[in-house]
Amino acid sequence: MARLTLRGFEIHKGFLPLDVQRNLIHALRPVLRAAPLFSPEVPGGGQMSVRMTSAGSYGWFSDAKGYRYADRHPSGQAWPQIPPEVLSIWTSLVGGDKQPECCLFNYYGEGARMGLHQDKDEADFSYPVVSVSLGDDGLLRIGGTSRKDKTDSIWLNSGDVVVMGGPARLAYHGVDRIRFGSSRLLPKGGRVNLTLRVVT
Ligand code: SIN
Ligand code: MN
Repeated sequence: MARLTLRGFEIHKGFLPLDVQRNLIHALRPVLRAAPLFSPEVPGGGQMSVRMTSAGSYGWFSDAKGYRYADRHPSGQAWPQIPPEVLSIWTSLVGGDKQPECCLFNYYGEGARMGLHQDKDEADFSYPVVSVSLGDDGLLRIGGTSRKDKTDSIWLNSGDVVVMGGPARLAYHGVDRIRFGSSRLLPKGGRVNLTLRVVT
């Protein structure tokens, strides 16, 4: 395990050993059954290439009306609870005074990407966003708090955990591409990214 800092993002390379990664995938299966993946619409029109769902009291959602948190899956069902295996990653890196209220589950299939954006739909930016990478490698791009700032990129591998907090809490970031098939963690390939967020 190695810890490095890039543009204020704390990157814990190899934070999760393989058996823990496998346990996480196992613990997430019931979440996907209760709250199946969907492809959100983006406000300008079109659909995201990443498929997503959430666990927790809030889930991140997007449609023609904009980006926001919703207390239900589009099916009308409440989001499932965040598995304790996921919460323990937050506790070990952030501490225990407040738990995340949303675990956004992003699935990147072949060719999926995520454009440069800020995570700013939450009410309190004093808590970090913790991001967990599982499965195929993904190329994370990190900028500053202005879209025009220069950016740096780093490959995230399965088991890496990134803490986006402090002055970098509102930094622009995105995923330019994944290396489809680079990991054998997920039977059908692809990349899973979990982001843990305090919402209220
Ligand atoms: C996100 O910004 O929500 C996802 C980041 C990632 O996939 O690494
Ligand atoms: Mn984000």
